[in-house]
Amino acid sequence: MNARPIIIDTDPGQDDAIAILTALASPELDVLGITCVAGNVPLALTVKNARMLCELAGKPDQPVYVGCSRPMVRTLVTAEHVHGKTGLDGPELPEPTMALADEHAVDFIVDTLRNHPEPVTLCPVGPLTNIAMAIVKDPSIVENIREIVLMGGAWKEGGNITPAAEFNIYVDPHAAHTVFTCGAPIVAHSLDVTHLALMTDEWIESIRALGTAVGVASAEMLAFYERFDEEKYGSNGGPLHDPNVIAYLLEPELYSGKHVAVTIETGSEQTMGQTTVDWWNVTDVEANCLWISGVDADGFYRVLSERLGRYPLT
Ligand code: RIB
Ligand code: CA
Repeated sequence: MNARPIIIDTDPGQDDAIAILTALASPELDVLGITCVAGNVPLALTVKNARMLCELAGKPDQPVYVGCSRPMVRTLVTAEHVHGKTGLDGPELPEPTMALADEHAVDFIVDTLRNHPEPVTLCPVGPLTNIAMAIVKDPSIVENIREIVLMGGAWKEGGNITPAAEFNIYVDPHAAHTVFTCGAPIVAHSLDVTHLALMTDEWIESIRALGTAVGVASAEMLAFYERFDEEKYGSNGGPLHDPNVIAYLLEPELYSGKHVAVTIETGSEQTMGQTTVDWWNVTDVEANCLWISGVDADGFYRVLSERLGRYPLT
């Protein structure tokens, strides 16, 4: 079986962390690179966190790239109130020692899509700045994108950073517009689906009970991370957004959705970053996205448990 080549573009972030750890434990996926973007916390921290996660996974040779430090047009908005000052609050992880790749993340994305022998899947789980800048630098790279499977957006659920917008899209709505209009096949895991699969304390404790460095650190991250959403939504457990992208690649049958036209608001400050979903095709605008709207939540957490349970990797 040939592993599927992917690039994970990320702003770790505890939920990004579980997505990365799940991907690195999955031989079905060939993680060509982890590209970091400013989002949950400033770029210097997302880069540091990505390296700490690769070392936690026992993968100090995993290429990690430094990307864009701010959105294309707007001023950076971060989310320390959710993820903590470090962006990865919860565990005490050692300072990273692995080297960073020399190439800029945008150049790596362009070069990889120009030269990789088969189409590459892009997996953005943060603001879309790096992806959009790569498309602007060389629009022809879209021809070698197999899919863009992203975490972002909200429609039926409403926003989580403003009433209208989900964080990843809100931070860089102009990048989101560039991506959603580039013509590549897009699969969007929005809040509409991530809010259907909430963590439970029992599940987090089952991860801690793995007793491994990855299991314990993951549980410490998630225990910290879920407190915000539990308080916000008054729920027992919070959504675990980003790993849905990786679980979809591993077991797509866990998910269901609909091909729809999605447009990004970039004009009104009140609705900036809103993903407007033409669910009933009332505009006749051509569909540009598979909007995921259903998930087998038990199956999702089964996949995460099974993959996290593979650590330490041999
Ligand atoms: O709105 C949730 C998204 O914003 C997730 O990707 C989370 O990590 C933050 O980046
Ligand atoms: Ca993220």
